[in-house]
Amino acid sequence: MSSVGNSNMMSTEDWWKSAVFYQIYPRSFYDADNDGIGDLQGVIEKLDHLNDGKGGGLGIDAIWFSPFFPSPQADFGYDVSDYCDIDVDYGTLTDFDNLLAEAHKRNIKVVLDLVLNHSSDQHKWFQESRKNQFNPKADWYVWADPKPDGSPPNNWLAVFGGAAWTYEPQREQYYLHNFLPEQPDLNWYNPEVREALADVVRFWMKRGVDGFRLDTANYYAYDKKLRDNPKRPPNSRPLEDGQEANPLSSYITKYSKDRPENIEIIHYLRRIFDEGSAITSVGEIGSSEGLDETLKLGADYVKHGDGLHMAYTFAMLNKEMSAEYFDHIVRVTEDSIEDGWPCWSLSNHDCTRMMTRYDCFAERDGFQQMMLLLMLSLRGTPIIYYGEEIDMEEYPISKAEVKDPQGIRFWPEIKGRDGCRLPFPWDSKASNQGFNEGTKPWLPAKNTLTLDQVVADPNSTFYVLKEMLTIRKQYSALQKGSFRELLIEGECFVFERKTENQSMLIAANFSAEEQIINLPSKVVKELTPTTLKRRCSLSGDKLNLPGCGYFLGMI
Ligand code: NOJ
Repeated sequence: MSSVGNSNMMSTEDWWKSAVFYQIYPRSFYDADNDGIGDLQGVIEKLDHLNDGKGGGLGIDAIWFSPFFPSPQADFGYDVSDYCDIDVDYGTLTDFDNLLAEAHKRNIKVVLDLVLNHSSDQHKWFQESRKNQFNPKADWYVWADPKPDGSPPNNWLAVFGGAAWTYEPQREQYYLHNFLPEQPDLNWYNPEVREALADVVRFWMKRGVDGFRLDTANYYAYDKKLRDNPKRPPNSRPLEDGQEANPLSSYITKYSKDRPENIEIIHYLRRIFDEGSAITSVGEIGSSEGLDETLKLGADYVKHGDGLHMAYTFAMLNKEMSAEYFDHIVRVTEDSIEDGWPCWSLSNHDCTRMMTRYDCFAERDGFQQMMLLLMLSLRGTPIIYYGEEIDMEEYPISKAEVKDPQGIRFWPEIKGRDGCRLPFPWDSKASNQGFNEGTKPWLPAKNTLTLDQVVADPNSTFYVLKEMLTIRKQYSALQKGSFRELLIEGECFVFERKTENQSMLIAANFSAEEQIINLPSKVVKELTPTTLKRRCSLSGDKLNLPGCGYFLGMI
């Protein structure tokens, strides 16, 4: 017997376990007021593309919005100068309320990106804190005296280059910033700071949001003794392209982040989230200490029901991908997560777009489709990055066009993150690919494919994803079933998702060549999306998987 359907999914406390998330980078989604920058009204106008609440659109369940709070945009919104308002570039609180109502009308949940590790240096808290050592906010940020020779208090380096400390002549002290000097780190050890940030969470919960993405949630605590980070032994860790250009990669950041004390801050935040109703949280936990360590750290943050609801891993955001690698990530996660819930994504606004990362694979578009289907078949909450549904590619940004502070600082070794943040191309025939009415967009509207072209092809990623999202909603095993690896053979990976009443078998071929495998279980019904061009064929227990093939069946 099998149970089909889960109509109550979105009204339960743990709605986020069944939901499919979609990340919007608001600056690049749709520019309704034609000023070159996407806005909240623009998102409202395009909600039906994501889910119109009546079966139209992609069918996603929740949106994570990258920040749209007031910000000088030194790091495009990840430098917040007021946590309880909307930046004029994006609209007003009234627009936000409308957006929330329109999203909820379509059964779409709304998750905000809270940047609570640091504020903007233009935030009034920091403006006061930096004045002298005795003001009421003097201890709201992380201040330390210079060394006797006037140099920074220790050797910590910033992610975006240079020392993680900047000297403030008014106080004759340095302040800590793990990212840009315009992003001073808040002092989470100060109870007043905690309370102020808890009030930020309460402000948005009261307005009706459904959850929060927590930016750099493993950076909140720092070593109170401010000990130097140790040097990393040479060649002790494989580096991504260009990473060696950042001197930070030659240190083990054990004192500046990933502190054991951090978990207590997460527990504090969880208690605040639990004051709301059915609130979820997803933390960005990106450790630089090796793959398994990162996965285990993420798992530690979501165990026992008193930490984050979810933490997403960076493990799938890299170039490397094979059946063996995929299996490794899933296995380490499943083995270490205990009662926690996994969360998966293949791209975001900080990394090279998947289509371009997978350049090294023959049939990269087939590969991307297969990866998306696999992500949607895993146990855990998947996050789709805007544009994945239309195979958006990385744009090769030029030096003249670069906007991202990371690209500006490390050009040409690291070209920054603009290439994955291009305006969404709604229409090939309209100006600026339909992003707006013709004003020059903040980044070039130069995508290779546009939505109208993609939806003209019945086998495009858009339809494959849409169909898979429908299938996922119909079968509880795909939403909440347990995970068990069944087989890994060559470049094929086969696993099972199972509830009491339902078992699914999923198989994927990570190579561009056809593979034939003997399935360990008998398939009683094939459920592979019919829109998928690369068809599998099953005869008895023999499954013929084409290159980049994906198979789903009930067993
Ligand atoms: C992680 C965010 O995803 C990234 O875009 C940002 O630059 C840093 N955190 C700093 O807030």
